[in-house]
Amino acid sequence: MELFDVYSLFDVVPVRAQGCKVWDDKGTEYLDLYGGHAVISVGHCHPHYVAALKAQLDKIGFYSNSVVNPLQAELAHRLGKASGYEDYSLFLDNSGAESNENALKLASFHTGKDRVIAFKRSFHGRTSGAVAVTDNPKIVSPFNAVHKVTFCELEDAAGVEAQLRKGDVSAVIIEGIQGCGGIHVPSDGFLQALESLCAKYGACLVLDEVQSGYGRSGHFFAHQWANIRPDIITMGKGIANGFPCGGILIAPKFQAVKGMLGTTFGGNYLACTGALAVLDIIESESLIMNAWQVGEYLKGAIPASPRIKEVRGRGLMIGIEFNEDVAPIRKQLLYEKHIFTGVAGSNMIRLLAPLCLKMEEASYFVDTLKEIL
Ligand SMILES: Cc1ncc(COP(=O)(O)O)c(C=O)c1O
Repeated sequence: MELFDVYSLFDVVPVRAQGCKVWDDKGTEYLDLYGGHAVISVGHCHPHYVAALKAQLDKIGFYSNSVVNPLQAELAHRLGKASGYEDYSLFLDNSGAESNENALKLASFHTGKDRVIAFKRSFHGRTSGAVAVTDNPKIVSPFNAVHKVTFCELEDAAGVEAQLRKGDVSAVIIEGIQGCGGIHVPSDGFLQALESLCAKYGACLVLDEVQSGYGRSGHFFAHQWANIRPDIITMGKGIANGFPCGGILIAPKFQAVKGMLGTTFGGNYLACTGALAVLDIIESESLIMNAWQVGEYLKGAIPASPRIKEVRGRGLMIGIEFNEDVAPIRKQLLYEKHIFTGVAGSNMIRLLAPLCLKMEEASYFVDTLKEIL
């Protein structure tokens, strides 16, 4: 059997990793400014994380959501404290798309309505509802396209209000910072307008923090820069540093009904252990502050060049938009300079380094970029 060939691959075989470093099967060392697509939050193979997972595996790896798992309640408690959402509830699932799927389902159950407002250039995942609210027709199949979705322009509060006024909208979904669409940070004023418009028209505000959350922006969630409190917050990626895990934070006004949401694997012992270890490390190593300080230094130090159009982002979620296709630059960075980077569209290098990125690693990248430009 062959693999179903859907991924474009770089010719690198990572076999070992530590912190922000990755080694391939030939022993070459790479600097990881991509974090496995924003997944590695506390650094590769952090000893505390590895020890916690190994110890849990020796105790019990899996049962089901039909028995008491105290790790889930511990995680809810710790996450509430760390994020500032102690009065919200936690539902655990397995990925970012599943979190968005559950958020949109919950909003629809709660409001009894079925249309969703999403934004141009959005990305929310690949499952049915999540991909339907994603602004990329190439990945939306006819099966997915049946959902009722309206795409508004980012920053167009009047356009959103015109849609909400029709009275059939269950949710407005927006990324804390648009990632795949090219690192667009919604303004504080726009997020505040969405919060009040949703309250006025009885729709739920869903903040997708799958990529921008978990400390990456310099706050626990990127929307906290705008001082708003969404109805539902969705998470994934960095939550358990690579062990598959996702979840949603749910405002107190939502009524839980037995069976309304569910999953086989969500909240299993290993995922909870990974997520608890991540919170331990974020706190003990002040990684949110580190992400902010190193990220802001990095953003400011990117050299001015006629080849670079703009540098955008917050903390360690940074987009460097070029006036040209970045594929050759990324190849040069990877194969000659041994630096992993991400991409958004054809002209943007996207940096999503682990939150433990050191100043000297950031300045090594800056020096390398200066050299190749
Ligand atoms: C903002 C955002 N939402 C949702 C997802 C989907 O997450 P997953 O791939 O874990 O389903 C992603 C993945 O890149 C994302 O960036």
